[in-house]
Amino acid sequence: MNYPQRSDALILGIETSCDETAAAVVEVSRRRVTVHSHVIASQALTHAKYGGVVPEVAAREHVVAIIPTIDQALKRAKTKPVDLDRIAVTSGPGLMTALQVGVETAKALALAWKKPIFAINHIEGHIASSFLPFQKKPAHQAAIRFPALALIVSGGHTELILIKKLGAYKLIGATRDDAAGEAFDKVAKLLGLGYPGGPAIARAAERGNPRAYGFPRPMLTSGGFDFSFSGLKTAVLYKLEGRRPSNKNVPDLAASFQAAVVDVLVAKTMRAAEMLGVKSLLLGGGVAANSLLRQTLNRRAGALPGLTYFQPNLGYATDNAAMIAMACSFHRRPNPLMKVNADSSWELV
Ligand code: KG4
Ligand code: ZN
Repeated sequence: MNYPQRSDALILGIETSCDETAAAVVEVSRRRVTVHSHVIASQALTHAKYGGVVPEVAAREHVVAIIPTIDQALKRAKTKPVDLDRIAVTSGPGLMTALQVGVETAKALALAWKKPIFAINHIEGHIASSFLPFQKKPAHQAAIRFPALALIVSGGHTELILIKKLGAYKLIGATRDDAAGEAFDKVAKLLGLGYPGGPAIARAAERGNPRAYGFPRPMLTSGGFDFSFSGLKTAVLYKLEGRRPSNKNVPDLAASFQAAVVDVLVAKTMRAAEMLGVKSLLLGGGVAANSLLRQTLNRRAGALPGLTYFQPNLGYATDNAAMIAMACSFHRRPNPLMKVNADSSWELV
């Protein structure tokens, strides 16, 4: 078996946990995965005006975008509702009012179209994202072997998750304060780079020297697998010494900060992979779009004998609905319609 699916199905995925309204049609069969469509209505420009996601605004935008987005996903996939086998929706974690839009829409459609509904955890979606092939091209990846380890790095989470098998997860380490993506966003704000901060820092870093500033590597040598990123943000603030960021120092600050985050993430992940003797390593979450992190982890994982490394194709690192449909294929049983509810603090482990 090449893919971690447990059943063959044509799945409509719906995702509204933060600031992307997304819908996708994904077919998971015994031998391959096909993304028939993958539509994202991003609210990033709206929230950029406020310097971050405003939950009330996000919910309102989801309400406007959700039906057209699902309609587009079905049209692009040339799929009629009757052809669908399942509806999968992100039920948590995320912003409550944002999640509710996706969940209530999915329930209404499941009822109207008489389809089984699956409540999917957003973090499990990020874990599943590495198994998605480029749009419409059938999958062609190496098989995942267990136990596996996932590094999930997003705007709200930084977690190391041990996967004994799909569905059996154990938290090995997590951030004690800011998530990695949150640190990127906050430092970008300090540097006047706008929102979302991750891509902006990565772009600025291309012109900078990663060794220009010796930022700390928080908790690098601590025994456990927890992370801490808020001190790094304070370190950047101190380097600015009350001055406004300038074209002269921003690229070096961005590159040095990015190098520090990547160093810590990679070192801890590789140490966990070695100590736990895992056979596969998976990267997921919005920060998985970061090229330095991708390249470094790929290189380091490649040097560990017996370890197979998976990372999401670029379009599937940040929030999307194809990963929610993919995660749905890990499950056998649908949820009773009336028990599907948004749960903003639903932790996978
Ligand atoms: O998974 P995601 O799309 O949403 C959440 O579930 O939070 O992750 C969004 C986070 C943001 O903090 C964003 O700044 C970060 O991912 N991000 C990046 C990059 N692209 C997005 N961080 C670093 N480098 C990137 N290229
Ligand atoms: Zn996410």
